[in-house]
Amino acid sequence: MELTRDRAWDTLTRHTESEALRRHALAVEASVRAYARRFGEDEELWGVVALLHDFDWEMHPTLDQHPQDGAPILREEGYPVEVIEAILSHAEHLSLPRDTPLKKALFACDELSGFVHACGLVRPDGIDTLTPKSVKKKLKQPSFAAGVHREDVYKSADELGVELDEHIVFVIDALRPIAPELGLRTAADVVAS
Ligand SMILES: [Fe+2]
Ligand SMILES: [Fe+2]
Repeated sequence: MELTRDRAWDTLTRHTESEALRRHALAVEASVRAYARRFGEDEELWGVVALLHDFDWEMHPTLDQHPQDGAPILREEGYPVEVIEAILSHAEHLSLPRDTPLKKALFACDELSGFVHACGLVRPDGIDTLTPKSVKKKLKQPSFAAGVHREDVYKSADELGVELDEHIVFVIDALRPIAPELGLRTAADVVAS
C-alpha cells in the first residue's frame, strides 16, 4: 500500500467519530511532523503513525484493549509493520522498547500535545502567548488535565533528548498553525471580541 496522509485520515475517521479524539490525533500529528522535519526524517511516515496512534480508542477505550487490539485492524488494512510497531510502542503498559527516533518522538508528543492543547483551551488567546513557564506551572497542578501523566511528560522529553522548555516551545509552535482546527482561540479572536 502507499502510505499517505489521506489514507491514514480515512482510517482514523472511519473508526473515530469524536471531535476531541480527532483533534488529539491532529495535535500529535502536527508535533510529530515538526520533529520529523527537524530531524530530517520521513515526515509522511511519522505523520501517519501520529495520526493513527489512538485510532482504536473509541472502540477500545481501556488499556486491556488499546492499542494492542487495534494492531490486527491496521494489519488488515495493509499498514506496514513499521507503522504498527511504532503505534504499539506509545503504550506504557506494553513495555515495548522505544528504540527509534519515531517511537521516542511519538511518546514525547502524545501527552504534551494534549496538555498544551488543554492549557490553550482555558486561555482567551489560546496558545498564542502561552509560555513554557505557564505550562510548567500547570504541570505542577495535579487537578489540571488530570488525565495527563506528568511522569510521562518529563521522562519522554528526556528519552527524546530534548530539554523540557525547548520541547514545550516546539510543541506550541507546531500547534499554532492548526489552532482553529483544534478549537483554540487566537489573538485575533481577542481583538474581535
Ligand atoms: Fe494511546
Ligand atoms: Fe494519544
